[in-house]
Amino acid sequence: MARVLCPFVVLAIVFSTSLATNHGPLQDFCVADLKSQVLINGFPCKNPSSVQANDFYFGGLHMMGNTSNPIGSKVTPVYVTQLPGLNTLGISLARVDFAPWGINPPHTHPRASEIMTILEGTLEVGFVTSNPENRHITKVLVKGDVFVFPVGLVHYQRNNGNTNAIAISALSSQSPGVMPIANVIFGSKPDIPKDILARAFQMSDKAICDVQQKF
Ligand SMILES: *[C@@H]1O[C@H](CO)[C@@H](O)[C@H](O)[C@H]1NC(C)=O
Repeated sequence: MARVLCPFVVLAIVFSTSLATNHGPLQDFCVADLKSQVLINGFPCKNPSSVQANDFYFGGLHMMGNTSNPIGSKVTPVYVTQLPGLNTLGISLARVDFAPWGINPPHTHPRASEIMTILEGTLEVGFVTSNPENRHITKVLVKGDVFVFPVGLVHYQRNNGNTNAIAISALSSQSPGVMPIANVIFGSKPDIPKDILARAFQMSDKAICDVQQKF
């Protein structure tokens, strides 16, 4: 029996190795040509011979984001559009500032998991699992703590304190995308029909109108 299986096992190992190679990078880098008119998934590469150190650089993440807004938080992104060298690498970064008791409202990243570390302050964080459990997993984090939000799941943060809070998030996409639930549902252009939202949320048309006007 073992003699019969053995060649297949070897074949399977060789085959999976060659597949894995295809998923890896095909060159050292592909710095995004952000001005290219070519529409591909991501960005075309700049000519490697014209690439400069600044294509792999972003300065300014020490700067506090302006949290004077209705939610009391500000995301400073370092995605491919801010740092062209991220193109095709599948990673990015963001700084998130929170005013006292500010929130980063429930949202999802369609293309990335997020791993967040707290630099200053105290954050209450959470995410909700998919149907049918919809389990709410939540924790209070302090300076030095790290928490991961799995790709696609709705998650949020709140500054649980009277001082500013700062977090740095790494994301598993050069362009993670963000879908704030309230904006997506109540602020789409054009609107999702009110009767659909009224039935979905088991609310009156008037209540839906009131919320839509805020977004
Ligand atoms: C922060 O944003 C608010 C609201 O947009 C604006 O009035 C204020 O001038 C900004 N503050 C700074 C320091 O840019």
